[in-house]
Amino acid sequence: MEKVEETLEEYQYIRVLESGRRFMEIMNKYRCAIMEVETKLNVLNSEFSLQYDRNPFESIKTRLKSPRSIIEKLRRRGFSLADGNVEELVEENLYDVAGVRVICAFQEDIYRLADLLLQQDDIRLIRTKDYIKNPKPNGYRSLHLILEVPVFLEKGKTPVKIEVQFRTIAMDFWASVDHKLRYKKNVEDEEKIVEKLRQCAETISTLDDEMQRIRNMIEAGGERHVKD
Ligand code: GTP
Ligand code: MG
Repeated sequence: MEKVEETLEEYQYIRVLESGRRFMEIMNKYRCAIMEVETKLNVLNSEFSLQYDRNPFESIKTRLKSPRSIIEKLRRRGFSLADGNVEELVEENLYDVAGVRVICAFQEDIYRLADLLLQQDDIRLIRTKDYIKNPKPNGYRSLHLILEVPVFLEKGKTPVKIEVQFRTIAMDFWASVDHKLRYKKNVEDEEKIVEKLRQCAETISTLDDEMQRIRNMIEAGGERHVKD
């Protein structure tokens, strides 16, 4: 068969398509990792509700980082994108392309769920940031785990990194409002506002502690009742 010469333009176009396909493949891996972790959490929830008649988490939110945010983050970190090695840069340097946020009613459920997840033998813990025990200076609280989970693809088992954030409903409320306020630039009395937000985070944390104590009292009461 006669071989048709490629023009430079065609060659460049093919390169773009090929790299686009590779990019879509890695995005698909992250999407699958989200499904894996979400399923693991739902399985735990289902078992908990049978055994203890309550759910360890209220809701799960998931998100896949957009190509735009991926590029912006790589640029911010000083990586050069000129060599067309975006896929490698993403896999080696970004741990939050796949994100899962678990919202719990009580602080103790956060640690119990995190432990149960980490006990599973196909999960590898890469990094923990416990902003509940060590809140950020602005008051932000959450437990962040970077995990590696296996995703089974046609060509075999691939480990994929994923960020899982655990928060109480109250911490989530604070973080959502904080996130909204962050976009407001050039506010007057910025220091005062930062301090007020930090105080709100303290109040919320006190509330979380109080709610946990109430639940502990109720559960202790329930146990006594059963024994009587
Ligand atoms: P980035 O992912 O680039 O932010 O850096 P990092 O890897 O050091 O992340 P870290 O674990 O500290 O936080 C990652 C994520 O936690 C962010 O993308 C937010 O979702 C959340 N987060 C961290 N700090 C704050 C905060 O002060 N306010 C709010 N609303 N969210 C925060
Ligand atoms: Mg992030």
